[in-house]
Amino acid sequence: MAEYREVPIYDIPLRLQGKDDKVHKRPKPHIDAATYKSNYQASITKVDEFWGKLGRETIDWDVPFKTVRHGDFEKGDVAWFPEGQLNASYNCVDRWAYKCPDKTAIIWEADEPGQGKEITYKELLSEVSQVANALLDMGIRKGDAVIVYLPMIPEAAIALLACARIGAVHSVVFAGFSADSLRDRTVDCDARVVITTDEGKRGGRTIATKSIVDAALKECPKVEHCLVVKRTGSNVEWQEGRDKWWHEAAAAQRPYCPPVPVSSEDPLFILYTSGSTGKPKGVVHTTAGYLLGTALTVKHIFDVHEDDRFACMADVGWITGHSYIVYGPLMNGITTLIFESTPVYPTASRYWEVVARHKITQFYTAPTSIRLLRRLGEEHVQGHDLSSLRIIGTVGEPINPEAWDWYNENVGKKECAVVDTYWQTETGAHMIAPFPGATKTKPGAATVPFWGVELALLDPTSGQVLEGNEVEGVLAVKQPWPSMARTIKGDHQRFLDVYMKPYPGYYFTGDGAARDKDGYIWIKGRVDDVCNVSGHRIGTAEIESALIQHPGVSESAVVGVPDEVTGQSICAYVALKPSFSYDSEDALVKELVLQVRRNIGPFAAPKMILIVNDLPKTRSGKIMRRILRKIASNEADQLGDLSSLADPSVVEKLKGDWLKKA
Ligand code: WT7
Repeated sequence: MAEYREVPIYDIPLRLQGKDDKVHKRPKPHIDAATYKSNYQASITKVDEFWGKLGRETIDWDVPFKTVRHGDFEKGDVAWFPEGQLNASYNCVDRWAYKCPDKTAIIWEADEPGQGKEITYKELLSEVSQVANALLDMGIRKGDAVIVYLPMIPEAAIALLACARIGAVHSVVFAGFSADSLRDRTVDCDARVVITTDEGKRGGRTIATKSIVDAALKECPKVEHCLVVKRTGSNVEWQEGRDKWWHEAAAAQRPYCPPVPVSSEDPLFILYTSGSTGKPKGVVHTTAGYLLGTALTVKHIFDVHEDDRFACMADVGWITGHSYIVYGPLMNGITTLIFESTPVYPTASRYWEVVARHKITQFYTAPTSIRLLRRLGEEHVQGHDLSSLRIIGTVGEPINPEAWDWYNENVGKKECAVVDTYWQTETGAHMIAPFPGATKTKPGAATVPFWGVELALLDPTSGQVLEGNEVEGVLAVKQPWPSMARTIKGDHQRFLDVYMKPYPGYYFTGDGAARDKDGYIWIKGRVDDVCNVSGHRIGTAEIESALIQHPGVSESAVVGVPDEVTGQSICAYVALKPSFSYDSEDALVKELVLQVRRNIGPFAAPKMILIVNDLPKTRSGKIMRRILRKIASNEADQLGDLSSLADPSVVEKLKGDWLKKA
């Protein structure tokens, strides 16, 4: 059992104890401790009754479902509410456009402070409809894939909802991915339409989105249309016939588009994520279960009420943006914020200015941002009115108790619930997180499972279930839950192999976790070859296959090493071909970094590259990453058992090389 810093248990803050606070008029949380417990039991033992009721209450159906849950992990044939038909865009937009047309749906905080705009639900319905009609005009129909390569502008949410409105499947590619990555993803899903901007803006800099798309589309013969949002108005290359301005295409359309009913199990979107092998996986989420999971977690983990203004600082390019900027908040009919900038632009007070300016009630970010802001000093938080906040959350990686405390004290003023939310691209919605009115928190613990999430800790080698408290193992899930991914685009076998095969009968998360004496879950991080840099998942194999494409590289091994701010950083060991000659090592290292940036995207660039003669291998030729990880973490004195090494002198040489470089 791992050692923890002795952490206090925080009681539920007074602001959230449901005492009627006359000054701030804070709403009483939806769920108290007893309700959480009884609901949780029902959610895993009376699946049909519990989820049937929530399915009916949370979603507006065109055709009601009869069956609640079908299928199991082993066959991978999971389906929720299979006979039901619905439309995601109707559920996120129309319901509120009719009920509260003038309520703000989207607040856009542009890169330059104070710029941006607000969009009401009524306006959102018109804009989504016009773009949906424009897509129909381009020949897009139910089931067709549309690539979205957009920075953080309202059109990103509008594009997603427009696709959903006509049953098209969106595949968002984070606008930090390179042309090569964009091309691969576009080809993989046979997209005929790509949506982008002329340029993006972030932190005072411009991003050449359109020219990246142009480069990618050179090798995407099936793409017929490129819809371009005008963000900066700069001159961009234009391919007549293919390229169309978004505002012109939309203006030509009727501002109402009838929503197309789809099956509960029709795909809503594809989102690529990294695994332990080279090729990213196109994770497929379907419609009803995903909407239910995101709607309920927004309602209960963030305890949202009607007038709340929800700010998730992630990018729409990742699952966090899909679930907690677009679908989850809009399913609840609240106001969601789209943030174009960075936590430090123009100053390290930016987040807190945003909270104060828009009277944000829930604020959601990544531990890496908190660690960065903590390092820059609490003076940046002071002097901003953060009294509107009730819940502050984190996601993406384990949060160290020091960062948690800092967040709680400086941002939450010890009056907000701090929710550390554990989940994955594949889980669609939160899996482990405290309920603000029900769960006492411990800094660093993700705490308790969400409804329907039956967890198991397994012995990594035997697969035996570890019962009781004070145990540590790999984290798995025992029964299907509504928002889980259903397959990998074009490769269902891989879906089964990666998630269902390692521990038969369970969904395997790829994370290690511990259960403490009180039954709380602590996430320990990935147990596979996946790194987590600033809350972004990057497979080491992907970076290795980028490096190997450089003409000089014969072999490489990439490892994640602990980093104070980004959680982990990437370190690459590169062995060169004997025939390859070069002038300066510095220049070569720069070239290698560029290779990764070009191949994957800037966010995947190694922080450190070490040119080496040989990599440490077992006698059967397997690279011993454990050793490389230790050396790069400055723990070369704790290399452990080296008896399986083919050539021990390689390690001695590496240690020397590392010391010279570090
Ligand atoms: C991996 C999933 C889910 C949205 C962001 C990342 C790690 C995520 C936590 C947390 C500890 C966390 C896990 C997981 N992770 N949240 N609260 N505590 N670890 O999505 O790219 O699919 O990555 O992120 O390792 O497996 P993703």
